[in-house]
Amino acid sequence: MSADHPAPLDVTIRPAGAADRAQIAALKPSQADVSIERRLRETRSGESVYLVAIDGDRVVGHVFLRLYGNPSDPNAPVIEDLYIHAGFRGRGIGTALLVRCEAIAREGGHPAIQLSVGVQNEGAQRLYTRFGYVATGRPVYIGGVYEGMPERVMDLKKSLDVDTRKGSPSND
Ligand SMILES: CC(C)(COP(=O)(O)OP(=O)(O)OC[C@H]1O[C@@H](n2cnc3c(N)ncnc32)[C@H](O)[C@@H]1OP(=O)(O)O)[C@@H](O)C(=O)NCCC(=O)NCCS
Repeated sequence: MSADHPAPLDVTIRPAGAADRAQIAALKPSQADVSIERRLRETRSGESVYLVAIDGDRVVGHVFLRLYGNPSDPNAPVIEDLYIHAGFRGRGIGTALLVRCEAIAREGGHPAIQLSVGVQNEGAQRLYTRFGYVATGRPVYIGGVYEGMPERVMDLKKSLDVDTRKGSPSND
């Protein structure tokens, strides 16, 4: 196994709870406490899912899945803030969180899933492209502030293989 490709880590993925607050804040210090609180609250209410990846008893990554989508596209949940601790990247944790988000969206019967990514974030774009995400065509826009700088982002979307027969009346 080369240093460039360390062994995949077998992390546990579960919804975040109040007890994870401090570790989440330490994982990504730029993150405002208010956003952590909102995400925990929306997870409790079932509006969204805030997932953490745990190695031992340490939070090493997280992702927030906004189940109610965007106002213009409410049926496609939004993946927000996929983030892995710098020392744990390249070991399959981001992939595992992405797979779990897609599974949750599929189980909820959502036909698609979406996210925005920094136009300069080529590493993350590679990951999403490999997963089948494609540009929506919306022009690049300022999606927020990343590391103190306005971040130009583009929107990506992926169709999910939802079984549309699920829940529909049987023709048998
Ligand atoms: C992008 C990110 C979530 C990927 O998580 P990860 O656990 O490193 O990803 P995995 O190990 O499952 O997959 C590795 C792939 O992630 C991508 N990647 C992006 N940045 C990477 C990094 N610094 N180290 C390793 N892989 C990275 C690459 O596509 C890589 O695949 P490749 O080696 O074949 O090119 C993670 O690198 C991260 O937290 N980056 C900073 C925050 C960020 O950019 N988030 C995305 C916001 S849209």
